[in-house]
Amino acid sequence: MAVTVILGTQWGDEGKGKIVDLLSDNYDIVARYQGGANAGHTVVINGKKFILHLIPSGILHPNTVCVIGNGTVIDPDALINEINMLEQEGIHVKNRLLISHKAHLIMPYHKLLDTLSESTRSQKAIGTTGRGIGPAYIDKFSRVGIRIVDLLNKEDFAAKLRFNLNEKNNILKALYHTEELNIDEIIDKYLEFDKIIDPYIKDTTTYLNQAIADSKSILAEGAQGAMLDVDHGTYPFVTSSNPTVGGACTGLGIPPTAINRIIGVVKAYSTRVGNGPFPTEQNNSDGDMLRKYGDEFGSTTGRPRRCGWLDLFALKYSAMINGFEEIAITKIDVLTNFDKIKICTGYKYQGKELKTFPADNQTLDQVECQYTELPSWKSIPKNAKVFSDLPLEMKKYVEFIEQYLGRRVCLISTGPGRDEIVKV
Ligand code: GDP
Ligand code: IMO
Ligand code: MG
Repeated sequence: MAVTVILGTQWGDEGKGKIVDLLSDNYDIVARYQGGANAGHTVVINGKKFILHLIPSGILHPNTVCVIGNGTVIDPDALINEINMLEQEGIHVKNRLLISHKAHLIMPYHKLLDTLSESTRSQKAIGTTGRGIGPAYIDKFSRVGIRIVDLLNKEDFAAKLRFNLNEKNNILKALYHTEELNIDEIIDKYLEFDKIIDPYIKDTTTYLNQAIADSKSILAEGAQGAMLDVDHGTYPFVTSSNPTVGGACTGLGIPPTAINRIIGVVKAYSTRVGNGPFPTEQNNSDGDMLRKYGDEFGSTTGRPRRCGWLDLFALKYSAMINGFEEIAITKIDVLTNFDKIKICTGYKYQGKELKTFPADNQTLDQVECQYTELPSWKSIPKNAKVFSDLPLEMKKYVEFIEQYLGRRVCLISTGPGRDEIVKV
C-alpha cells in the first residue's frame, strides 16, 4: 500500500474525475497536488453530475479522506461554494477534508490581474480560465505569496497583504487604469474565510507521510494534463504548475519512492481549451462531431473545447516524462459515431520525420501529422464489463495504442457514468 498517481496525459479534461472517483473506494486518502479552481473534474453517479474544482474527486466516497495539498492555490470563494454544494447534496465534508497549511491563497488581485493581463497581452492570449492561477503562482515563486498558515497571525497577514496590495494597486492603476482594491474589505473577507476553513487546516505533509508509514493507501489526483505542464507542456500556452508526476512529490511533500503506481488518463481523441499548438486539431466536420458527441464544453468555463484525433506522438512524450505503465482510456464511446478513426503516429517537419517532441511552438504549429486510419465500430454492447465484451474494431484500436506506447491499458471508459467501465 503506497501512493498511486492518476494524471492527465494530454491537455486536460481527459476524464480524470471519473477515473479517480472509480478507484477511490480502494484508497484511504485522495489528494490533489497542484492547480486550483481552474480544474473541473466531473463525476456522474446515477445520472447526477458533480463538478469538482478544488476538492478531490474521492469526496463522493463516504469513507475517503480528501487532502488539498501544499502545491495547490486556493480561492476561498471557490472552496466555500464547493463545500456548500457538497453539503447541500448530503455529502459531508467535515472531518473528511484536510487543507495544507502551506497551500497558497488566491487573492482578489490575482483574479483581476489574470483577466487584465490576458486582455492586453502583446502576443496571443493564453486563454486562461481567469481563476487567478498564474498570478498566484507568480507570487509564490516571487516569495510574496500569502499562505493558509499566514491567516493564523492576523497582524502578520495584514502586513503581508498591505505590502502586496501596494504593489498590485500601482500596477492596476498605472498599467490597467482600473480602480484600486480596498485593503480592509480584503482583510475582512479573508478573516471570515479563515473562520470557515479553520477546522480543515492541517499539516498535510506530516499527515500523508504518517499515512504512508502506517501502510495506508493514497491516490494522488492530478489536475490539468502533461501538455499543460509549465516545464514540459507547450509553453507558454500552459498552466502555471506541474501536473506531471514530479508535481505529486513537491505538491504533497512525499518522496518519489512512495509512488508505486502511475495511471495516465488518455481520452480516446484529443481536446484542448484555450490557445496554443494542437497538431491533430480538426477544424472541420470531424472536429465538430467530436465536440458534439463528446459534449466537449469546458467544465469550468463552459468554453467549447477544440477537438482533434488522438496524438500518439505527443502521448509517447507524455509517457516518457510521467513514466506511467498503465493507461485508463476514456470517452471511447464518442468514436462510435465515426466510420473511420484517425490516429497520429508521428510528425513531419519540412519533409523530415521528427524523432522527439519539439519544444518550440513555431515548429509545432507547422508539423504535418502522419495518420493511420482504423475502422470504427457500430455500437458498444450495453453492460460491457470486460475486454472480451467489446467489438473487435474497438479492441484493435486499444491494442494499437498499447503497442505504440508500450504501456498497458487497465481501464476503458464507455460513458460518463460510474458504472460505464470496462476492466482490462
Ligand atoms: P477531467 O477534468 O479530466 O476530470 O475531465 P472533465 O470532467 O473536465 O471532462 C470529461 C467529461 O467527459 C465530463 O463531462 C465527463 O462526465 C465525461 N466523461 C468521462 N468519461 C466519459 C466516457 O467514457 N464517455 C463519455 N461520453 N463521457 C465521459
Ligand atoms: P482539468 O483539471 C483543461 C488551460 C486553460 C489555458 C491554460 C492556462 O479540468 O483537466 P490557467 O487558468 O490554468 O492559467 O490556464 O490551461 N487549463 C485547462 N484546460 N482542463 C483543465 O483542468 C485546465 N486548467 C487550465 O484553458 O489554456
Ligand atoms: Mg476538466
